[in-house]
Amino acid sequence: MESTLIGEALKYAKALFENDSSGHDYFHTLRVCKTALTLAETEHADPLVTGLAAALHDADDRKLSPETTKTKANARAFLRENGVAPQTEERILTAIGEVSYRGTDSVTPSTIEGKCVQDADRLDAIGAVGIARAFAYGGAHGRPMHDPGTAPEENMDAARYYAHEATTVNHFYEKLLKLKAMMNTDAARRMAEERDRYMRAFLEEFYAEWEGER
Ligand code: ADP
Ligand code: NI
Repeated sequence: MESTLIGEALKYAKALFENDSSGHDYFHTLRVCKTALTLAETEHADPLVTGLAAALHDADDRKLSPETTKTKANARAFLRENGVAPQTEERILTAIGEVSYRGTDSVTPSTIEGKCVQDADRLDAIGAVGIARAFAYGGAHGRPMHDPGTAPEENMDAARYYAHEATTVNHFYEKLLKLKAMMNTDAARRMAEERDRYMRAFLEEFYAEWEGER
């Protein structure tokens, strides 16, 4: 890992997520951190800002810690206690504030570090890991895997996206298959290509098995 401070931020995130089973767990944070640092190298982004933003990107997440989402109190507390300079703290908090997927209301991060973290977070929602996370999330929320009678709802804004209760297969059309085209960096686009192909192959196999054809 890039620096001991990023390692400390990961430990802090681990303690915060101890009890989560919805796919927003510590290992998600760890994967996002590794991927974000890989992207930062290719994109010549600041590794410390990228790594710390990635390590802390879910610390005040809307689902995990709704009471601190606005203030980002958890991320802020870590950065203060670890002597991160105020300007650096601001750059990290800005990147974190721009990461989240909000349907058609998602924002393009204003900095290259934010772009690397957002791309890394989105890469973790697609491919083999993304498939596993989607079904884990669906199970944790009591959603059916698939219902051929329910059509996916595309192009939802933030309010609609948050209120929506999809089947997990529909979630692929409502979010996951859109992510490849939404990557900010070339490095992430290249990684998304293969992961997207893998998800499409998965769906094709899923429908064939569903119909008893394979
Ligand atoms: P973000 O990390 O951008 O905040 P979310 O909180 O929407 O994204 O999603 C976290 C994980 O849970 C992702 O892997 C996502 O695909 C999955 N997920 C979110 N909503 C659903 C859903 N309705 N059905 C299945 N998986 C979901
Ligand atoms: Ni995340």
